[in-house]
Amino acid sequence: MNSRVISGKYLLFMFALGSVSLWLVEVFFEFIWFNPNSDSFVSLVFPVDDPKELFSRFVLVSSLLLSGAVVSYLYDKQASSGRRACESEQKLKTIFNSIGDAVIATDAAGMVTRMNPVAEQLTGWTVQEANGLALSEVFKIINSATQHPIVNPVDKVLKSRAVVGLANHTTLISRTGERFQIADSAAPVFDDTGEMSGTVLVFRDVSDEYRQQEELRKLQNYLSNIIDSMPSILVGVDAEGLVTQWNMTAEKVTGVPADAAQGKALSSVFPRMASEMEKIKESIKTRTPRSEERQSRQDEKGVCYEDVTIYPLIANGVEGAVIQIDDVTERCNLEQMMIQTEKMMSVGGLAAGMAHEINNPLAAISGNSQNILNRIYKDLDNNRRTAEECNVDLENMRDYLSRREIPRMLNGISDSCNRAATIVSNMLRFSRKSKREFSGCNLAELMNSTLELAANDYDLKREYDFRKIDIIKEYSPDLSEVVCEENEIQQVFLNLLKNGAQAMMEKDYVDGSPCFVIRLKKEGGMAVVEVEDNGPGMSEDVRKRVFEPFFSTKNVGQGTGLGLSVSYFIITDQHNGFMEVDSVPGSWTRFGIKIPVSGQEA
Ligand SMILES: Nc1ncnc2c1ncn2[C@@H]1O[C@H](COP(=O)(O)OP(=O)(O)OP(=O)(O)O)[C@@H](O)[C@H]1O
Ligand SMILES: [Mg+2]
Repeated sequence: MNSRVISGKYLLFMFALGSVSLWLVEVFFEFIWFNPNSDSFVSLVFPVDDPKELFSRFVLVSSLLLSGAVVSYLYDKQASSGRRACESEQKLKTIFNSIGDAVIATDAAGMVTRMNPVAEQLTGWTVQEANGLALSEVFKIINSATQHPIVNPVDKVLKSRAVVGLANHTTLISRTGERFQIADSAAPVFDDTGEMSGTVLVFRDVSDEYRQQEELRKLQNYLSNIIDSMPSILVGVDAEGLVTQWNMTAEKVTGVPADAAQGKALSSVFPRMASEMEKIKESIKTRTPRSEERQSRQDEKGVCYEDVTIYPLIANGVEGAVIQIDDVTERCNLEQMMIQTEKMMSVGGLAAGMAHEINNPLAAISGNSQNILNRIYKDLDNNRRTAEECNVDLENMRDYLSRREIPRMLNGISDSCNRAATIVSNMLRFSRKSKREFSGCNLAELMNSTLELAANDYDLKREYDFRKIDIIKEYSPDLSEVVCEENEIQQVFLNLLKNGAQAMMEKDYVDGSPCFVIRLKKEGGMAVVEVEDNGPGMSEDVRKRVFEPFFSTKNVGQGTGLGLSVSYFIITDQHNGFMEVDSVPGSWTRFGIKIPVSGQEA
């Protein structure tokens, strides 16, 4: 019989039935063996004439029924508490089994006591198989990245008696060898007395999320790699101007690492962008890109040019902008150089043409002024004879002319002619394409001898003492012979040294003293010469024009403005090289020359 069929009432009924049966059995025995008066069976069932017997039977039946009632009550109570326990166990089991996450419970020794179906599925163990096994046997985990086993979280809980989260990148290896990416935690279970009665481990399969995250991470890496490998500065900002993106070039240029820049105001991590903030905000507001080309700025290396483009970002309700900054200094310099060369070629051609035209009358003036002096002052037979024929006293005439300062004037004409002749010969260089004597030359020696020449140059000494200038030589040993026209290169060096010295004399030195830094080095197949002075430098306007023929900032008569243009011509046209100038006003000027080491005859 099913235990569920037995109830207290049933027991009570059985007791009642037993009492009635006992009564009847007793009557039956009495009827057979103790019936001296041969009473009928019915009269014996209720012996009304024997109250003692009747009373004792009632007492017996009542005590039996009472005991039955007590037993049935106790039985009912017991049965209902058992049922409740069973129901609650059933409920617990249902809840346990319907949890979407995998759950494994262990006892205080870390042995598996329960598992829900999700845990069974993920671990590959059934509860029956796993029951009583150590958790580490059923729940095998490794680090996804290193593939090394990880300490079981339950062991940690047993030690720390506290909740432990699973490490990131945890892979569960099931009994069948299948792998799942999992996440979650383990916690201690305490009983009513506060003693730890076991642990419960909750975990879930996050393989799909993990894969998506990995893909997202890879995509992010890929995008950052693209952004980082761009030569432009790329900076992302939100609508408040706080940095959201900072690429490698931005790091390099500003010296601020991406981590440090993130979330900071752009103007604080990239101060020169402070002036652009208004434009950036405007661009975000109006949703129109803006671009500003060739913004010039001065840094310690000289004038730099940048293209700044602002792209507003309006995606998924996120407002912001990407700022792209390209350093176009090299391109601008190249363009300027081309314009310069163009200008030089046309102005140079003009100068050369003019020089040709001036050369003949100049020669006539110079020659004739010399002839006049000869015909007056030289004791020539012709002079004497002609004076006699004309009845002129030569001495008187010389006396008259001297008193009227005619010889001084003629000498003046001659001096001016000589100066003009020098200018003309310089101007003629612009057109001269004659074959030059190219030979191997040691630039270091040439520079040293030019420095000596400059130090002893009488013209230079008249204005200032070259020896007061400190000279720092940075000669690289890898530059040996350079094929060039030695005299012309020396003239270029001299022009640069002269200009630098003249410029430095105009500066009032508060700290330091006039100083030249002269560098000689080799870059690829080119010999590089740099002449840097710490003089007053030059403004951007002057810098752009220094190579123009006749451009000079010096007083009339002090400079022809041909020194640098001739030098430029010698380097670029006759030596197939490059010449450039960089300067920071108030600080320094640096002329750079590059000529091919192997020399290429023009
Ligand atoms: N080192 C320098 N520092 C500052 N300014 C310079 C320097 N070198 C040249 N300049 C400027 O460039 C101008 C042109 O120089 P360039 O040598 O062509 O002519 P110049 O020196 O004025 O005349 P010349 O060379 O005939 O004496 C100079 O007048 C000067 O303003
Ligand atoms: Mg000069």
